[in-house]
Amino acid sequence: MKVAIIGTGHVGVVTCVAVASMGHEAVGFDVDSEKISLLQRAIAPFHEPGLNEALARELSAGRLAFTDAPAEAMHAAAIVFICVGTPAGPDGEANLLAMERSATAVAHHARDGVVVVEKSTVPAGTADRLRFVLAREGDGRRFNVACNPEFLREGTALSDALEPDRILIGVESERAAILLRRLYEPLTRKGIPLIETDLRTAELAKAASNAFLALKISYANALARICERLGGDIRTVTDVMGSDARIGRSFLAAGLGYGGYCFPKDVVILERLAARVGYDFGLLREVDRVNHESVEAIAAKVEDALWILDEKRIAVFGLAFKPGTDDVRLSPSLSLARRLLQSGASVVGYDPLASANAKDERPELEIAPDAYSAAADAHCVVIATDWDEFRDLDLAALRDVMAYPLVVDGRNVFDSTEMREAGFSYYPTGQAPVLIDPSETWGVDISRGRIGVKPGSGWPG
Ligand code: UGA
Repeated sequence: MKVAIIGTGHVGVVTCVAVASMGHEAVGFDVDSEKISLLQRAIAPFHEPGLNEALARELSAGRLAFTDAPAEAMHAAAIVFICVGTPAGPDGEANLLAMERSATAVAHHARDGVVVVEKSTVPAGTADRLRFVLAREGDGRRFNVACNPEFLREGTALSDALEPDRILIGVESERAAILLRRLYEPLTRKGIPLIETDLRTAELAKAASNAFLALKISYANALARICERLGGDIRTVTDVMGSDARIGRSFLAAGLGYGGYCFPKDVVILERLAARVGYDFGLLREVDRVNHESVEAIAAKVEDALWILDEKRIAVFGLAFKPGTDDVRLSPSLSLARRLLQSGASVVGYDPLASANAKDERPELEIAPDAYSAAADAHCVVIATDWDEFRDLDLAALRDVMAYPLVVDGRNVFDSTEMREAGFSYYPTGQAPVLIDPSETWGVDISRGRIGVKPGSGWPG
């Protein structure tokens, strides 16, 4: 079966590879010829583990091709997936221009009876709009609109696409159902469940899943604030919660909050959609508010520890919105960096993969080539993304290069005892801070706004 995939962002390229690996003929299309030229050479325009190898395999097997010519991509395709971006505008609403353009291209180039599938996460009701554009532009041809949301995460996208917990299809015609069942037959044969429903329910189910995962994270972050005030350890609180099978362990890690292209946007879009149909989904506004507050909570700890941020140098470790990716879109790390810069600090960032993208996004940010260079002469290190590399740092070496031995851990990558033993003042998330005993170490008052410092570092204590 020939399948055309419109849009070669994360979802589109992974869908191309997944469709080809299931034994179908996949053709990826994008208006960006530079991206297409890279993909034709098996180079993904973003970082995703294993993707370049998978592209090379499917391209050389002849099951996959890329083109910037829409007619070529859609010629004889039985299914067309729309995988274009739906970025949030300044008002938080999704910008669906690329969806409309894609539907117009399908209407002009695809064959009669083609199944047109929404894959991008879109506000519920978008399928109706697609149907309308296809009918308007389609010159009397018939189209079957369907919805098949993806549940892939950046960093594990290939396995998420080929070994998903479930496949969800929203259909309104038997033809769409038959073709999508046939497409996914290699996966359903292995026992992966396929849930078939109507279009509107499928659109809502995807939005509901992302918003619920975001809610779990904000719930953990709100509890972290309580733990910090009352005394208590968020890691144990969420461990106890997570060991209840009804709750589950995932997405309960407290920290700097969620970022990326999906959660921040999807939560707001679902809240707006509810408002438009007359339901006040205040719970989702709270999820969003707690998420913003999580960045502020970390910034407040830096201020608590350093007091005045002017003339202070702060190293932010981790700039990607999560580990395993070079994506900095709506990264909480960059929000934090901006907040600290606005408060007068000089900020130097380091990320194992995302430094170049971070510099593009925030040119005012100084970037260091490695963690120790970033920490050199810094008055504080903030852990903003939980890369494994940070867990393996040589703490003595880190402490030696810093101006003050202070770490604010926005992802709980370290353990309080090891930080105390390594001689750091340490502010974890949702746990009591470790403050260096002034009489034993540097001889300054650390009760509020002051920390242990290296002798001769210029600290006026
Ligand atoms: C998310 C969903 O997990 C996918 O199922 C979905 O397909 C995708 O959005 C999408 O709609 O396209 P992704 O944005 O790649 O995937 O990243 P996640 O791994 O879900 O992480 C999202 C954010 O939550 C990250 O900033 C991460 O650091 C944060 N997070 C995650 C926490 O703060 N705590 C946690 O316990 C888990």
